[in-house]
Amino acid sequence: KAQAAIQEDALDSMGTLLSSLRRCTRCPLHCNATQVVPGAGPERAEIMVIGEQPGDQEDLRGVPFVGPAGQVFNEALSEAGLLRGEMYLTNAVKHFKFLTKGRRRIHQTPDAQEIEACKDWLHQEVALVRPKLIITLGATALRAMEGGGVRLATVRDTIRPGVPARLATVHPAYLLRLPDEARALEERKRFFAAFETVRQWK
Ligand code: URA
Repeated sequence: KAQAAIQEDALDSMGTLLSSLRRCTRCPLHCNATQVVPGAGPERAEIMVIGEQPGDQEDLRGVPFVGPAGQVFNEALSEAGLLRGEMYLTNAVKHFKFLTKGRRRIHQTPDAQEIEACKDWLHQEVALVRPKLIITLGATALRAMEGGGVRLATVRDTIRPGVPARLATVHPAYLLRLPDEARALEERKRFFAAFETVRQWK
């Protein structure tokens, strides 16, 4: 019964969070985005994954990691035997930031103020989900969780114990942008190996 009450509480709070988030005007990004893209997944997930911000397809569909970067992420999970449906996926910034060039919308990296403006939403999600492990994808997510003082290269791909434990890795979109084929392959292997590390941690 107590467990059910906790579960219900969590649902209420997540519902409240979601409706406030949908009305968010804390930074100018809400003006041009189609919609806010909230986190997705079980509210009591053991693992929480944090990306940078929704991309073009996520902005249109309102769901995180459904575009090309999401495909790479999905491949890394399935290679490691991890289930996406068991994870809570979200982004450091909840609105798509872009520049329009002709018919294309070109992704722009969120700046420090935009990350700061959105940080409270992210920290509320962490408090509600209470994951055992947080995986940050790329420098923006790492910054949102740990501040600007932690360099991704220094902590990359190792599980740092704690409550929650943390693993910082690169963003899957980075793998898609690398022009050198050999380098891209090597980086992809490292990215996939990070998820193998996660599976062993489980
Ligand atoms: N990149 C992200 O960081 N998040 C998404 O949801 C999609 C692409």
